[in-house]
This record gives sequence, structure tokens and C-alpha cells, in this order.
Amino acid sequence: MSLEIRDIHKHFGPVRANDGITITVEAGTLHGLLGENGAGKSTLMKVLSGFHAADSGEIVLDGKSIKMASPDDAIEAGIGMLHQDPLVFLPFSVIDNFVLGSPGHRRLDRRQAAAEFAELCERYGFNLDPATPARLLTVGERQQLEIVRLLWLGARVLILDEPTTGISADQRAKLFVTLKALAKEGMSVIFVSHKLEEVADLCERVTVMTRGEVVGEAEMPVPPEQLVEMMFGQAVEIRDRNEVSLGGSHLKLEAVRMAAGLLSEDPISLDVQAAEVIGVAGMEGSGQDTFLRICCGMRAPKEGRVSVGGQDLTGKHYRDFLAANVKYLPAGRLEEGLIEGLTVTEHFVLAGDDKSFFVDWGKARGRAEEQVAHYTIKGTEASTAESLSGGNQQRLLLAMLPPQLSVLLMEHPTRGLDIESADWVWEQLLDRRAHGTSIVFASADLDELLRYSDRILVFFSGRVIGELNAADTSVDEIGLLIGGRTAGAGATGDSP
Ligand SMILES: Nc1ncnc2c1ncn2[C@@H]1O[C@H](COP(=O)(O)OP(=O)(O)O)[C@@H](O)[C@H]1O
Ligand SMILES: [Mg+2]
Repeated sequence: MSLEIRDIHKHFGPVRANDGITITVEAGTLHGLLGENGAGKSTLMKVLSGFHAADSGEIVLDGKSIKMASPDDAIEAGIGMLHQDPLVFLPFSVIDNFVLGSPGHRRLDRRQAAAEFAELCERYGFNLDPATPARLLTVGERQQLEIVRLLWLGARVLILDEPTTGISADQRAKLFVTLKALAKEGMSVIFVSHKLEEVADLCERVTVMTRGEVVGEAEMPVPPEQLVEMMFGQAVEIRDRNEVSLGGSHLKLEAVRMAAGLLSEDPISLDVQAAEVIGVAGMEGSGQDTFLRICCGMRAPKEGRVSVGGQDLTGKHYRDFLAANVKYLPAGRLEEGLIEGLTVTEHFVLAGDDKSFFVDWGKARGRAEEQVAHYTIKGTEASTAESLSGGNQQRLLLAMLPPQLSVLLMEHPTRGLDIESADWVWEQLLDRRAHGTSIVFASADLDELLRYSDRILVFFSGRVIGELNAADTSVDEIGLLIGGRTAGAGATGDSP
């Protein structure tokens, strides 16, 4: 038995979440699906499990094309999905949850169901008390409940979307043992993750997705740097930007430690010059986000000094950093940067420095219209932030930036954008750089990092594992560091 995913397309407005995905999953294998956040993994899994209808493409199980209009159809066909956050009816008991989710047409003998539940738990070593209210279960136990439920419903393909988020190391180890046992019994297990080590630990085959496409497949084990290269892309080295002379310290970190408890962490020292571009690389969650937040005053460092233009701002408020012309644009545009329900005009009013008590809405609308035209935002001054596409939200955020900036910090400035919008974003950034603004940006795109950075900081496991001069580094060197290996030694960064 095998599962074939054939040329699946799924677009959300302009976002091509799945852009022609073809993957074959053999029975009895643990198949990893690896990709950065936003790569389109969850979308594909939701298509596969009947939660989303694909725009086009086909799912073939055992040589038969299956029509899926709902999750019930999927489970009927033998495909079950464990969600990132298991869907459990919290007020009900474990056993009620077990039987509740069964499709309506199944005739239920509760006593028999309870016996089968006990048998499945026994078989996989789960210690679930049928009478416990589900709300008292840990995330790991909810997963176990979901797994036995899906098995009971006849799943032969089990999909787990980022199942290790929020569970303990113990529970993870236990989950991995269960998944290996299931594969041995002939089950196809699709394990979705953005964590390289987990996929490397568990899976026999791996498919790598980037920006809605499959960019690589490999039979495990393969060296981690090969997976990193697939995830981050092979950079075409083009360095055609105008050289700008650097000069004057804009942002200085001295012996900064980011968090307590990381005793092995080397303190970070960094002096960002005017008009310098610093790229920040690393697997998702390796400390880049904390680093950027420390640079803009949203978090205080555990130790060390942060100064802007020679002024010590250690421990000062985000507003003090803003007053010193340091601005941060986070990755989650709608979550952190823009406000749902507010129009473009209202955003400009909020971002503006007009301190008068009454807003002149006529004038505000006029100014917003000008900005919409100037930044070629597809929308109107009356569009709400959430109605704009990702590229246009990014344009709005850039349009709202104060004209004079000393340091601009950005997380994934072009993630999820089409090429035209991405190029446009960098035109804006380089224009600011030409006027002296220092830019510090985190990216999961090696091409972007190499193309635009002067220096690249590579994070691994909560610390800076390497600082590279972009002009004389290589994809291989960055890839090794991102995967936790320092050149020469070949040791992983986990243990000194
Ligand atoms: N329901 C939705 N509506 C609009 N856009 C969506 C929706 N679900 C996902 N997306 C977009 O599709 C892209 C892929 O998302 P997702 O499949 O969740 O990626 P991953 O699971 O790899 O992190 C992202 O740009 C995301 O914002
Ligand atoms: Mg996801």
C-alpha cells in the first residue's frame, strides 16, 4: 500500500501555499516532511486529511483516487491526522472523547469500545484512565488519546503535524517509540516538522518543502548540512549592490548574554556600523528572535550592555529605543505589526507624529492615498489591514516607518512574498541603507542572506556559533554552522 500525493495546488488569494506538490509515501515508513514555517506543510496535510479542498491535484491510496470532501471521508479512506493542537472535547472524559469522534453511521457498543480502547492503550503502552476528564490530560496524553482513536477508526496513514510542540522530552521519546512501532506494523506515518534533528532522529525518508514547493527528497540518513542546504536553498551568488562606505557605530552590544540558564553561552559582542547590513541566520528558534528583541529594547539582556549611537540604553524601554531611531518589524505582520480591523488611513494616523488632539480625517485620508500610490499598495486608504495580501501588508509596514532611522531590525523581510514584492522590499531597504540606516535582518533564505548582508551571524541552539564576512563565505560554510557544526572540528555544538 502506498499513498500518492499528485500535483496538489492550493492557493489562498495570492499566496501559493501548495504549488504543485507530488510526494509518494510508502507503507510501513516514517516519512518526514521538513520545511521552515510558512513552507506550506500544514496546508498540504489539511488537504490530505480532508480539512481543505485542494484547488487541483489528486490523492491516490492503494492505487485508488480518493474523493475527499470532509475529514470523515479521509478517515473512511484510512487517513487520520493528529493536529498541532489535538482537538479534544475538554469537559468530557477520555473514553467519551474516544467514542465521540466516531463517524455518525457507526453503531456503537460502548462496552466493546471501552474494551478496544483498553486493548489499544495496552498495546502501545499508553497509561490513559478512561474516566479522567480530558481537560486534565497533558498535551502528550491528548496526543496518545488521538492516536488510539485514529487507529480505532481504521487509520492506515497517520499524519502528525508538528507533534512535539509543547510536550516534554520524555513524552517526545515515548511518542517516537510509538511511531516506530506503528511503522513496523505497516502504517505509513507522515511526520511534519521544522526541526531538523527530530526528522533526522526519526524518519527513514524525508521530503523538504520551501515556499509551497518540494525542493528535495532524501533517503535517511543524510548529513545534516545536506538537509540544511535543501531547506535554505542554494544561493546564486550575486553581489551587485553599490558599496556604501560604513562609518560610525549605530548599535553596539557588549558581552550580552541573552538568557539565564544558558551557562555555556558565549556572550555576544557586536558593533553595527552606519549603513551596515547584518544578516542573522539559523534554524527557526535558535535564538535569533530573542537577539532581535534585545537589539530593539523589547527584551532586556541578562547581562551586558546595549547602546545606540553611543548612548547606553541597557534595560531601557522599547520607546527609548524608538526615540533613538531604532525600529523593529516582526515577522508576524498581522499579529504584531498591523492591527486587524483598522484601515490603512487609521494605521498612518497611529504611526504619525501628529500630536494634535483632533485628527483631521480629511487630511489623513489624503495623506494615506498618497502613500498607497507611492508605495504601490494594492488596496485603498479604506482597506482594512487584514484584507491586504502579505506583500501589501509588508508594503504598508514599510510605508509607516519613520523617515529617519538609525537601525532597522527585521524578521524575515520577504517571507511569503512573491518575487516582485520581495525585490521591491529590498529596493526600499537598500535605499534606506544608502542614507545611512543600519539594517539587521533574520532570514531563512541563504540567497537573501548572502546577497544583501555585509556580515552574517549564525545562531545555533541559543547562541552565536559563527560570524562570517558575507564577501568571503560560502553556502557550505553557512550550512555547516546552521546545522551546529563548526568548521574543522566537525563536532556538534550541543556539547563542548
Ligand atoms: N487559511 C488560510 N488562509 C490564508 N492563508 C493561509 C491559510 N493557511 C495558510 N496560509 C498561508 O499559506 C502559507 C503556508 O502556510 P502553512 O501551510 O501553515 O505552512 P507551514 O505549516 O509549513 O508553516 C503561509 O503563507 C500561510 O500564511
Ligand atoms: Mg504548520
